[in-house]
Amino acid sequence: MNRLFFRFFILVMLSITAATFVVYFVFTRLFGDPFEDIARRQASAQIFLLEQYVDQAPADEWLGRLNKVREVSTTQFDLIPLDQARQALPYGSRAAFERGELVLDPSHKTFFRRVDLAGERYIGSNEEALRASRLPVDLGQALLMELVRYVVVALALLVPIALWSRSHWQGLQMLARVADEFGAGKLAARAQMKPSDAAYPLAQRINAMAGRIQGLLESQRNLLHSVSHELRTPIARLEFGLELLADKAGDPALSKRVAAMHGDLAELNELVNELLSMSKLDNATEAQRALFELEPVLRECAEGLHPPPAELHVELGAMLGSVAGDRRLLARAVGNLLRNAQKYAAHTVALSARRDDGLLRILVDDDGPGIPEEERERVFEPFYRLDRSRDRATGGFGLGLSIARKAVRLHGGTLRVERSPLGGARFIITLPDGVLTG
Ligand SMILES: Nc1ncnc2c1ncn2[C@@H]1O[C@H](COP(=O)(O)OP(=O)(O)OP(=O)(O)O)[C@@H](O)[C@H]1O
Ligand SMILES: [Mg+2]
Repeated sequence: MNRLFFRFFILVMLSITAATFVVYFVFTRLFGDPFEDIARRQASAQIFLLEQYVDQAPADEWLGRLNKVREVSTTQFDLIPLDQARQALPYGSRAAFERGELVLDPSHKTFFRRVDLAGERYIGSNEEALRASRLPVDLGQALLMELVRYVVVALALLVPIALWSRSHWQGLQMLARVADEFGAGKLAARAQMKPSDAAYPLAQRINAMAGRIQGLLESQRNLLHSVSHELRTPIARLEFGLELLADKAGDPALSKRVAAMHGDLAELNELVNELLSMSKLDNATEAQRALFELEPVLRECAEGLHPPPAELHVELGAMLGSVAGDRRLLARAVGNLLRNAQKYAAHTVALSARRDDGLLRILVDDDGPGIPEEERERVFEPFYRLDRSRDRATGGFGLGLSIARKAVRLHGGTLRVERSPLGGARFIITLPDGVLTG
């Protein structure tokens, strides 16, 4: 069952227990000890015999009647010296005893009473006390009854508390699920609740918030997509214009200028293409799935590095098997990591892949400067480049890692970076079970 239920139930039970003790304390103060009251009722026959039969006898017959009662009763009636009785009295009952009242000691199933105060019943009767022991007093049973009452109340409370907390708990769990799904990129996730549900007002607010965030993200994606798309036509026109200009230009200085502009345009074109593929990945909800052999794809990626690094280690575990996914997308992600490694490595780049625990791990290592711990999440943000001066020399827009991560996520996997044993950065692609087949 749920946490809410346990907490609330324990709270209610603690309150009832506390209330029980308070009631006992107040009753004792106001009306005397309830347990003594019970014991007195249980011993009422013996008390009745003493008060209504023995004590009602004329003074000189008192002892005779007591002896008759002794014969027939299972309770033991003894006459004991006053001092002995005083020592055996329960705590706090001395005054009542001295007044001649009957004093009960439920824990020893005994009562005491002075025979009389004036010594009228027999010679020295004011110096003796009557002790009745083996009374039919059983406080254990009374306690058991209290316990049964407590358990029944607890069980009776269990049902409404369970029903009440179940509806709240289910609502909270649904909201947690929606928050998880939304956080994982499923922007259409919403909480479905009836207006009568306890968490309905909260669900409404969360849904409204999710709607606003979804709208903002979508308009941002659309803007990116439209701008990139719209840029293509003027770029194409400019390229065409430059071609014409290059043909017509007789001046070598102008030709050089035109060639440089060609280079800039090519870069712009590449940026637009990267942006478009990023926005495509943003809008996709799942990758296309087709079976392909992993090993040749990884080898192709490694061999496609231009220029090849001084040292390239490729270590692909046996039985890599096939993968169900978008071959082009995964190759693009791995290729991107390899190109980064090649850009930043001092000498060595290593590509390895292995399967364990039903997971496929693809590792790209280099012996370059690595990525400081505090930057390890930020490098996956679009356009984020670490050391601007160093990176400008290496070219690139800062979109590669962001695109690679989106591609891996579309396959239900993760991409992260840590420190490589080679000294530089280690990028790790982890793909889950469902994407793999043996
Ligand atoms: N292997 C690496 N070693 C050190 N730094 C790296 C490594 N890989 C990436 N980085 C850092 O992360 C930044 C982002 O990488 P990303 O691949 O996204 O962009 P890029 O390579 O600069 O450009 P693009 O990939 O878009 O051509 C890089 O600019 C670089 O600062
Ligand atoms: Mg890159």
